[in-house]
Amino acid sequence: MRFSRRASWDLRPNRLAQLLEARRLSGEPILDLTESNPTRADLPYPAAQILEALAQRRVLCDAPAAQGLPVAREAIAAYYTSRGYPVDPARVFCTASTSEAYSFAFKLLCDPGDEILVPSPSYPLFEFLAALESVRPVPYPLVYHDGWEIDLAALRDAVSPATRILVVVNPNNPTGSFLKKKELATLREIGLRHGLTLVSDEVFGDYAFGPDPERVQTLATEEAVSCLSLSGLSKVVGLPQVKLGWVVVSGPDAAAVCERLEVVADTYLSVSTTAQLGAPALLALRPRLGRAIAERIGENWRCLPEILGARTPCSVLRCEGGWYATLQLPRTRSEEEWVLGLLETQGVLVHPGHFFDFPGEPYAVLSLLTAPATWRQGVARLGDFLSA
Ligand SMILES: Cc1ncc(COP(=O)(O)O)c(C=O)c1O
Repeated sequence: MRFSRRASWDLRPNRLAQLLEARRLSGEPILDLTESNPTRADLPYPAAQILEALAQRRVLCDAPAAQGLPVAREAIAAYYTSRGYPVDPARVFCTASTSEAYSFAFKLLCDPGDEILVPSPSYPLFEFLAALESVRPVPYPLVYHDGWEIDLAALRDAVSPATRILVVVNPNNPTGSFLKKKELATLREIGLRHGLTLVSDEVFGDYAFGPDPERVQTLATEEAVSCLSLSGLSKVVGLPQVKLGWVVVSGPDAAAVCERLEVVADTYLSVSTTAQLGAPALLALRPRLGRAIAERIGENWRCLPEILGARTPCSVLRCEGGWYATLQLPRTRSEEEWVLGLLETQGVLVHPGHFFDFPGEPYAVLSLLTAPATWRQGVARLGDFLSA
């Protein structure tokens, strides 16, 4: 059997996956500090309202619309407008997830072998999303100086004649760092000089621990440079199973981009009518669901240092929001030794930093969405293990 080079993955499970599987099979308990599926995090979902939003008579009729049904696009535009960023529904495209939104952007703007600039450390799926569209992800570093920032000099150096897209994750996963106005000024300049489109992944944009006037909230109303802003119900209201994401097109070439993006979307017509018709009522749940998620991550973030204890030999890296916390662990063991040891002896699961391409090691990444009881117990055991 011969597979394409795009699909030439090494599918052998790593040591952590093997250990986890063995533990699950033997029925030993696991305190999972990586749970980032909101529907499994013991959040107070209003089940009846969600089901009512999805069970409408109109879903019985198929009315295909490449860009997305107006009712869904209007609700998505209203989400931006309610946050102070007026968006025209004509600039909104529905997709079946943010992942699909990325794939549309890469298809629209890149030829095979072209390059996209992606932040590092960041979202591990870029490697796969890029490979499946036959484009090459080129990392640009975020650096940590008592807070994360883009290494703008390294970003400039990473641009090549093959670069087409500059991806920004705002706030970034897992560093929780937002794009700053000063950084955006440089991104605009680089974008304009090299004819790049900015793809701004804003799925965690609603989740900041506090205000910051220097922060860029969204590029959905950007005028100077060509932008595609991505988000979806998966994080905005914690409903990944509905499979509704979107792209907002902005910038000087918006009309031309929309014309061709419509052809890409029309080729697949992948967004379900049910998800689109449900969008207004589901987005109307944002004050409730978004707040429940924000309270969960805020509370877990605030109590993290206290549970770890002042004497635990690790540092919690500064983070402005998002769904993750990063710990820098003592160098007395390798990252793999820490993470495997933690699971084997304490039953506590964390993400190793290399999963997100952290520079150097050892780091551990924890999901702030974790249910409170698991969080308290898991973090306490982590603290004991690091201190032992
Ligand atoms: C930065 C980032 N973008 C996109 C996604 C995926 O979003 P969706 O479920 O809409 O594909 C995730 C999921 O964790 C993410 O971390």
